[in-house]
Amino acid sequence: MEIVRRVSRCRELCRRFSASGERLALVTTMGALHDGHLSLIRKGREIADRVVVSVFVNPLQFGPGEDFELYPRSMTEDVEKCRSAGVDLVFHPEAAEIYPENFSTAVEVGKVTERLCGVNRPGHFRGVATVVTKLLNIVRPDFAVFGLKDAQQTVVLRRLIRDLNIPTELVAVPIVRDPDGVAISSRNQHLSETERQAATVLHRALVQAEKRIEEGERNGARIEEEIGKMMKSEKLAHPEYISLTTAKDLIPIKTIQGRVLIALAVRIG
Ligand code: PAJ
Repeated sequence: MEIVRRVSRCRELCRRFSASGERLALVTTMGALHDGHLSLIRKGREIADRVVVSVFVNPLQFGPGEDFELYPRSMTEDVEKCRSAGVDLVFHPEAAEIYPENFSTAVEVGKVTERLCGVNRPGHFRGVATVVTKLLNIVRPDFAVFGLKDAQQTVVLRRLIRDLNIPTELVAVPIVRDPDGVAISSRNQHLSETERQAATVLHRALVQAEKRIEEGERNGARIEEEIGKMMKSEKLAHPEYISLTTAKDLIPIKTIQGRVLIALAVRIG
C-alpha cells in the first residue's frame, strides 16, 4: 500500500492502475476511520480491482464556528486500518496541495443543496462538491463509494456527477450503526456517556416511524410530528429539522408513496 501526499504522484499511480486495465474505486474520507468507512472500502474491493482512499479534512466545507480545528485526526491508525482492509493507495494531501494560493473556483450544485442541512450550513455543500470534484479529477475512478449516513451529501454528489458528465459511477452504501443504533461517526468521540445514551433516540424514532409507515400511515406531517414528540422526550436532543422527502430529489412530501427519506438533524451536546 502506498501513501502519497502529492497530487502529481497520486495521478501517476492511478493512471498506471487504469492503464493496465484495472478498475478503480475511490473512497473519500476526512480520516478518523471507523467501521462505516471500512464498509465503504469493502464495497470498493468488491466492485473494483484497486481501492484508493483519500484522507483530507476539507477546510472548505466547515463554516465559521464549526469544528474544523476540533475534528478528530488519527493518521497513524488510519493508515493501519487501510492496510488491513486491503487498500492499494492512500492519498493524504496537505491543505496547500489541494488549495494552492489564489485558488478561486467553486462547484455549486443547485436545488438539492437548498434544503435540509443546506439551510443551516451555508457553503457546506459547495465545499463538499468542490473537493469531491477535485478528488474525482485526480483519481479518475470508475466508482466512487459514499455512505447513506450522509443521505443529502449522496444525493448532491449524484446530481453533480450526472450534471457535469463525470465518468464515475456513484455507489451508495447503507448506514453502519453501533449495536445501540447510533450511526457510527468520527464526531461521536465528542459525546459524553449521557449524551451518547441520549443519541439513541434518533434511531428509536426512525424505527418507530418506519413501523408506522409499514402499518399504513401515509400522512407525512403526522410522522414528522411523532418523531418531534420523541425528540422532545429527550432533554438533551435539540432538533434542527425533521423532514420527510423524496429519496431522489429531497422534495418535501405530504403524502407518503414510493421511496421516502426520513431525514433529521439533531444537536446533542
Ligand atoms: P467523512 O465524514 O469522513 O465520511 C466519508 C464517507 O464515509 C462518506 O461517504 C460518509 O457518508 C461515509 N460514512 C461515514 N460514516 C458512515 C456510517 N456510519 N455508515 C456508512 N457510511 C458512513 O463525508 C465526508 O467525510 C466528507 O464530506 C467528504 C465526502 C470526504 C468530502 O470532504
